[in-house]
Amino acid sequence: MNILIIGTGYVGATTAMVFAESGWQVTGLDVDADKIERLRQGRLHFHEPGLEDLIAKHVHSGRLLFTTDKETAIAGHDVIFICVGTPSRPDGSADLRYIQQVAEDIGYLMNGYKLVVTKSTVPVGTQEQVKAWIEAAQRQPHPFDVASNPEFLREGKAVEDALQPDRIVIGTDSAKASEQLLTLYQSFQCPRIITTPRTAELIKYASNAFLATKISYMNELAKLCDEFKVNVNEVADGMGLDPRIGPSFLQAGLGYGGSCFPKDVSELVMTARAQAVQLHILEQVMEVNRIQPTYLLDKARSRLGDFANKNIAMLGLAFKPNTDDIREAPALRMIHQLLLEQANVRLFDPVATLPAHSSSYEAVTVCASVEEAIQNADAVILCTEWAAFGQLDWENLKGLLNQLNFFDGRNMMDARWMRGIGFYYQGIGND
Ligand code: UDX
Repeated sequence: MNILIIGTGYVGATTAMVFAESGWQVTGLDVDADKIERLRQGRLHFHEPGLEDLIAKHVHSGRLLFTTDKETAIAGHDVIFICVGTPSRPDGSADLRYIQQVAEDIGYLMNGYKLVVTKSTVPVGTQEQVKAWIEAAQRQPHPFDVASNPEFLREGKAVEDALQPDRIVIGTDSAKASEQLLTLYQSFQCPRIITTPRTAELIKYASNAFLATKISYMNELAKLCDEFKVNVNEVADGMGLDPRIGPSFLQAGLGYGGSCFPKDVSELVMTARAQAVQLHILEQVMEVNRIQPTYLLDKARSRLGDFANKNIAMLGLAFKPNTDDIREAPALRMIHQLLLEQANVRLFDPVATLPAHSSSYEAVTVCASVEEAIQNADAVILCTEWAAFGQLDWENLKGLLNQLNFFDGRNMMDARWMRGIGFYYQGIGND
């Protein structure tokens, strides 16, 4: 079997690497010629630790090819993974136009049996739609199967997650398709779930929505912890020892961001609404997350009086560490609000940059170091828990500040230590 990956973004590039690493011959196809040219040179168009080296290794060995020629690519491959984007529409539902385009291309250009696999996160029922789109575009009635095989990659840990997954979920109504997919994944040591396409699609959404629920739950609890002068991290540690709860995703902070959780939760809510089912809990999970960055800004405002002409050092922009991804990053929303309130925003992130060509952030001073960002600051707001921020010697740095105010959106610093060296320090739920 040779494998074609359509869409060489985050999911596609990682999936291509995984199969090449497992010994299969893989081709990545994309409409973006610049992306393909970079990938052909073994270079990535986004930041993901370890991924570029593995892509380069397989490009050089010839096991990983990249092309923009869809006719030859679709005709020449038996197994096709769809890894194109599924952005949200303004109402929060998934926009499947790229999936549809790819399905129609496959239908039109196929020349024999194809196994088509959706890897992108798609709403329940999409496998059936993909089948219908392929069938409608066919020039001759070639046989094909469509399976759902969702990814569970975390940005910043994609290589680890992809090479050592916790589970492989295969949703298909065809024995041939499940046999082929099990062969492709034969070298992996983890449970396999073979189920219906709808179940596979729902497992993905339900998992992400559950993790988002854990986060919003802790973020709400953190507010109560502040009132009771209880440290939310200690509460989380105590809760996490119960194996039914588990220790992960209990970290209170500025809320979840990124390309997955916000989109997936709202898409699941919309999918349910379309079936006349209201997901009350998830609606509140979204609301808690929407207002969460405001909570820290309120704390900072009440300390400073107002933000007008105050120097605010923002440490971190990416939605989480080890990525340059700023999609749905809480820091962006906070910067937007600070600018509205006439603050002088000085930003430092080790990797991420502000959106290019956006006039909304023109007033931000982008700094090349923490030291530069905190120069004369009236307050420091930490938005992303980059490891380097935790290693800073604030005892030495504090002389650069105008006022010793520190608002820690990720509960990264030791509150007692920071207060001990003279800071007015506030986190989320560790008053
Ligand atoms: C997520 C899922 O983990 C992954 O399985 C899925 O396929 C894609 O979406 P990702 O978006 O890369 O991955 O980020 P993740 O590490 O899961 O974090 C998501 C957000 O939640 C981040 O903004 C992070 O800061 C926040 N978070 C996470 C918390 O606020 N508290 C936590 O305890 C954990």
